[in-house]
Amino acid sequence: MDIIQEILKLKKERNAVIMAHNYTLGEVQDIADYCGDSLELARIAAKCNAEVIVLCGVRFMAETAKILSPAATVLHPAVDSGCPMADMADPEEVKKFKADNPDTLLIAYVNTTAATKSEVDICCTSGNAEKIVSALPAGQKVMFLPDANLGGNLIKKLDRPMELWHGCCPIHDRITPEDIQLARKAHPDAIIMVHPECKVEVTALADMALSTGAMLNFVKESDAAEFVAGTEIGILHRMRKENPDKKFYPLDCNPVCEDMKKITLEKIATVLREMSGKVELSPEIIEKARRPIEKMLELSK
Ligand code: 13P
Ligand code: SF4
Repeated sequence: MDIIQEILKLKKERNAVIMAHNYTLGEVQDIADYCGDSLELARIAAKCNAEVIVLCGVRFMAETAKILSPAATVLHPAVDSGCPMADMADPEEVKKFKADNPDTLLIAYVNTTAATKSEVDICCTSGNAEKIVSALPAGQKVMFLPDANLGGNLIKKLDRPMELWHGCCPIHDRITPEDIQLARKAHPDAIIMVHPECKVEVTALADMALSTGAMLNFVKESDAAEFVAGTEIGILHRMRKENPDKKFYPLDCNPVCEDMKKITLEKIATVLREMSGKVELSPEIIEKARRPIEKMLELSK
């Protein structure tokens, strides 16, 4: 039996659903029941009735699925697939900041560990950050963590002061204004999209800054024929598959998130066969981390 057939058979036997982030390998996205950005995957996990969820993405995404669907067994096919940005907001450091700044509201990007989420007030994703931050009362002191680039882009767009944590996505932070200028020169007719995890001076040169899910919606609805995907290259798979008549180009600097690529078909088959890679979180962490995520889902309806 080939690997795909084995996964499909095991999936049925285990009453499992497979969810994949838009940056995973193409063959992983192709086998998934659902593909999406962080917000879309969280929404699906919150509504999911499956006994088993195989979350193909980085660790914080698997944790979010477990927090929102605690009765399900959540399997993460690569235990070493973490998000370096999530590790930049240490829960103890966040706890100390909170104790030292009791009048500051903590907004955490979902790219944080469950332990860090359990210390904050509201979560957000790149798909709803504008809505969440705009909903806050004017004058409310805010600390935005961990992504100083996403936070900086929000401050600029919404003209709203916030304190920023010292984190970033190493993959998006490496993209430079020159990369955008090169793409503009090479593809003068293309619309240039970047992710809001890019630096402010990079988003300023692009035509738009969108979450991966919003990019996919935009290219589907747009009348334009050519697009530059200024984000992790995994997104090109769905763009090309869903829009065969349009042209999509990566940036020359070729941004790759190695952690996302650790999820392979072989590892998906293994966790389903052995019921290994279970995401285990204490009931206390699940309860505490659930509150800011639910607030986010409520505010971004
Ligand atoms: P999206 O929610 O836009 O898919 O982003 C997740 C992520 O990790 C981007 O680096
Ligand atoms: Fe984390 Fe960046 Fe990879 Fe997204 S692309 S999972 S933010 S390291």
